[in-house]
Amino acid sequence: LSSNHPTDLKQLHLPGSNRRVLLIERPHGVPQPAHFRIEEDARPHPAPGEFLVRNLYLSVDAAQRGWATDANNYSQAVPLGATMRALTVGVVVESRASEVTEGTWLYGWFGWQDYCVATPAAILQPVDPKRAPPSTYVGILGMNGLTAYLALMDIGQPRAGETVLVSAAAGGVGTVVGQIAKLLGCNVIGLVGSDDKARTCRERFGYAEALNHRRADLAEALRVACPKGIDVYFDNVGGTLLDLSLRNMAARGRVIQCGTVSHTSWSPTPTGLRNEREILVRRLRWEGFIIFDHVHRFPAATAQLLAWLDEGALTYEEDVSQGIESAPRALAELYAGDNIGKKLIYIG
Ligand SMILES: NC(=O)c1ccc[n+]([C@@H]2O[C@H](COP(=O)([O-])OP(=O)(O)OC[C@H]3O[C@@H](n4cnc5c(N)ncnc54)[C@H](OP(=O)(O)O)[C@@H]3O)[C@@H](O)[C@H]2O)c1
Repeated sequence: LSSNHPTDLKQLHLPGSNRRVLLIERPHGVPQPAHFRIEEDARPHPAPGEFLVRNLYLSVDAAQRGWATDANNYSQAVPLGATMRALTVGVVVESRASEVTEGTWLYGWFGWQDYCVATPAAILQPVDPKRAPPSTYVGILGMNGLTAYLALMDIGQPRAGETVLVSAAAGGVGTVVGQIAKLLGCNVIGLVGSDDKARTCRERFGYAEALNHRRADLAEALRVACPKGIDVYFDNVGGTLLDLSLRNMAARGRVIQCGTVSHTSWSPTPTGLRNEREILVRRLRWEGFIIFDHVHRFPAATAQLLAWLDEGALTYEEDVSQGIESAPRALAELYAGDNIGKKLIYIG
């Protein structure tokens, strides 16, 4: 799909104006279209030390909900009226920064907009369109794949023969976790929102079993799928699925807290079961993970993911929307579970 998009600078469409997706209202839950407005300005020009990126692939990340709110997050909230913070892949079309050359492809903090004037500090990774389709650098080679790999290895420390449970298993992060855990010889079980996703997880993404988290007999089905208990829980959702998983952990199991997409709101603080006894009695470890603590490891981790892609040991799926007009509704769609694999927007 996205690999058919042009990568030659001369073939790229360079609009004369800049459309930006502004955050205009602070969401108290999942961002909806009304929280954003698209505005059109003149195409900007870089000052000395800056460069201009033409964005082509806008990432849609569950994490953007946190960036848009001012409640309990690890980063500063996007100011109201500002361009929505987003990771993107784009091409440098004008440069007044000595270390950045025109025609270079980059993955970085360039926002939901056609063009971004940036400094080198906004760059997360270089992109080599000859090595892999540029879209993959916002997905399996970007935040989603890097999080899947580093969090699983660092905190999960999965060993061959162990059982690994993954929630949001059919999503951008989950599809990569499943495959890597399978490569390591684990028995991988997924939690997903539909039977269709469960089938895709089993057929394409390394899952021995995938369970629809909406089924009424989920507790029993999880017990049957994990007869020796769960050794590693890669948790993308929190809430009641975490409560249930904790009651099925094996002794000395590890819980990776990667995300909390099931929380409808973070304020007031969500309440639920008390799980201390599960953690104590089962001697569990429970650790949070934030990918941006690990930026210095991106080159090595990307090289590993690329090697697996080259060997055919990893595959990926992209859910690509067309045009910047799709950005304001994209997070609502992601949280509704419309996507299989990485959700992104092509604006070339
Ligand atoms: N900590 C970090 O550094 C870091 C970095 C990247 C991503 N993440 C986290 O990784 C997770 C996945 O992110 P992503 O961007 O790749 O999104 P994603 O998994 O592609 O999409 C989110 C998925 O969450 C599922 N979901 C939504 N509401 C749910 C609920 N109430 N219960 C269970 N599942 C629900 C939906 O799938 P179903 O249809 O299967 O329900 C949806 O497709 C998110 O929690 C994100 O915050 C964390």
